[in-house]
Amino acid sequence: MTDDTTPQASYTAQHSPDRVGLGRTAGQRTAEIFAGLRAEMNPTPETEALSRLSGRLTARLLMRMAKPELFNFVPVRSGGFLGLIEEELDGQPATVVEIAAGFSPRGIQLAREHPELNVIEIDLEDVIEEKKNRLNKISKFEKPANLTWYSADLGVTRLSEVLQGQKVDVVSAEGLLPYFTFSEIPRVVSYVRDSLKPGGAFIADIGYSDVKGVQEASRVVSLFRRQTSTMPGSVHDEDTAISFFKDGGYKDVAVHRMPKVAERYDLPKPAPDVLFFMVARN
Ligand SMILES: C[S@@+](CC[C@H](N)C(=O)[O-])C[C@H]1O[C@@H](n2cnc3c(N)ncnc32)[C@H](O)[C@@H]1O
Repeated sequence: MTDDTTPQASYTAQHSPDRVGLGRTAGQRTAEIFAGLRAEMNPTPETEALSRLSGRLTARLLMRMAKPELFNFVPVRSGGFLGLIEEELDGQPATVVEIAAGFSPRGIQLAREHPELNVIEIDLEDVIEEKKNRLNKISKFEKPANLTWYSADLGVTRLSEVLQGQKVDVVSAEGLLPYFTFSEIPRVVSYVRDSLKPGGAFIADIGYSDVKGVQEASRVVSLFRRQTSTMPGSVHDEDTAISFFKDGGYKDVAVHRMPKVAERYDLPKPAPDVLFFMVARN
C-alpha cells in the first residue's frame, strides 16, 4: 500500500541488525519467535508451515530458560484475543481487522469458524508475501474466501486509507503497541478509532511489569530482546494503560488481566500476569 510518494518507512518497518537470521525488522523477528513458539507448543500443519527453523530453534532455547508455565503466555495471549474478539460479535455479518497479524494463524481460524465474517489481516508487505508463500506450501491449503490480506506500513499509511474509508466492527492488534513509545500510543490508537463503527471495539495488549513474574521472566525477556533488538515498553498500572486510549478519544476502555482471561476462556493455567488485554470502544 505504500508507493513512490511515501516519504520513508516508519521506524518499526526499518531494517535493524538480525543476529540469527530471524527477520529484517524487530517486529518480524518477534513475529518469527512467536510463530516458532506456537509451532513448538501446538504443532499443526498451519503453525508448522507459518514458522521457520530459526524461529523454532530460538523458541526451543527460550523454553529451556524458564518454567514451562511462563510459556502459557503464548496460548493465553492468542486465545485471549480470540475470546475477546468473539465476544464482540453476535453471529451477524461483521468485519474484523487484525493489524500486525504477522505469522499468526488466528485470522484463518476466525474466517473458517465464522463464515459470516469478513476478516482482513494487515502487515508489512514482505511479511504478508512470506505468509502467503508459507501457507501455499501446505498441500490442500485453501484460503478462506472471507479472508483478505493487505500489505501496508501502518506507520506512514493510515488504517482508514488502507481500508479505503470502510468502517469496521473490530480491530485487533496482538503484540503491536509495545513497539511504540508511550507518547506515540494515543496517536496510533486514535488512527485505529477513525476506522471503527460507533460502538466498534479496538482490542490490543499492553505489557504490564509490576509483578513478581517479571523477575522470573527477566532472563527470557533479555534473551528475547537480544534476538529481536527491541525494548518493548510496559506500564506499571491499569490507569496508565487506560489513559493511552482515553487520550486517543475512546470513551469506554476496559482492562482484562491475563489470569482472569485464562479462566474465562478455559486456556492453559497458571497464566502469568504480564500484560493487559485492552478493549476500547468507540
Ligand atoms: C510482535 S509481532 C506480532 C505478530 C503477531 N500479531 C503475533 O502475535 O504473532 C509485530 C508485527 O507487527 C508488524 N509491524 C511492525 N511495524 C509495522 C508497521 N509499521 N506496519 C504494519 N505492520 C507492522 C511486524 O511486521 C510484525 O509482524
